[in-house]
Amino acid sequence: MKIAPSLLSCDFSKMGEEIKRMDKAGADWMHLDVMDGHFVPNITFGAPVIKWVRPYSDKPFDVHLMISEPLKYIDDFADAGADIITFHVECDSDIDATIEKIKSRNIQAGLVIKPNTPAEAVFPYLDKLSLVLVMTVEPGFGGQSFMADMLPKVGAVKAECARRGIDLLIEADGGIGAATIKQAADAGVDVCVAGTAVFKAEDAAKAIGELQAY
Ligand code: DX5
Ligand code: ZN
Repeated sequence: MKIAPSLLSCDFSKMGEEIKRMDKAGADWMHLDVMDGHFVPNITFGAPVIKWVRPYSDKPFDVHLMISEPLKYIDDFADAGADIITFHVECDSDIDATIEKIKSRNIQAGLVIKPNTPAEAVFPYLDKLSLVLVMTVEPGFGGQSFMADMLPKVGAVKAECARRGIDLLIEADGGIGAATIKQAADAGVDVCVAGTAVFKAEDAAKAIGELQAY
């Protein structure tokens, strides 16, 4: 299993150092949660911050946009150094145009599904995506409980991809740690985001290693 620590749980007074710490601890990707206080009831950081911390690791930067109008800001996040940009199928931007914009900047595009959205919502776009992210909590905050009942969506996306001969990665985000990762792995998830489980661990390398073993 690939592990992408969510910087949402880091000490923001030293975000660059925290990224370096996760890199050294063996993280596969860095997961950066961008929230606009409109699409979700919380505000985090935007492209300028990502640009400042970009030099602290060569690992892929996986930018999760929880914003109402992602299309407006794709160039900013591309310029900031994103490798993967995921945005929500529930957003207000045109989905096809946003995917095209991301891909035109040579960045991998992913769509995210909130808990109340069925897997089928992303089916029309699967052949254009590198990744589908299934939320296993309501987006907005770290440290929430894992929603195991979201996992059948992983199977549904995988089955549809297999039927159509599409190869993409499935990511899960929210409430993932030692107690829940086996369920995600068994469902066929390829990449797990982990915030609290990694940042609050005494030994981040040990925590990441244990999760990667699944
Ligand atoms: C929630 C974010 C997640 C979150 C995960 O809106 O998308 O990435 O930070 O944090 P944990 O692992 O603590 O649930
Ligand atoms: Zn996230």
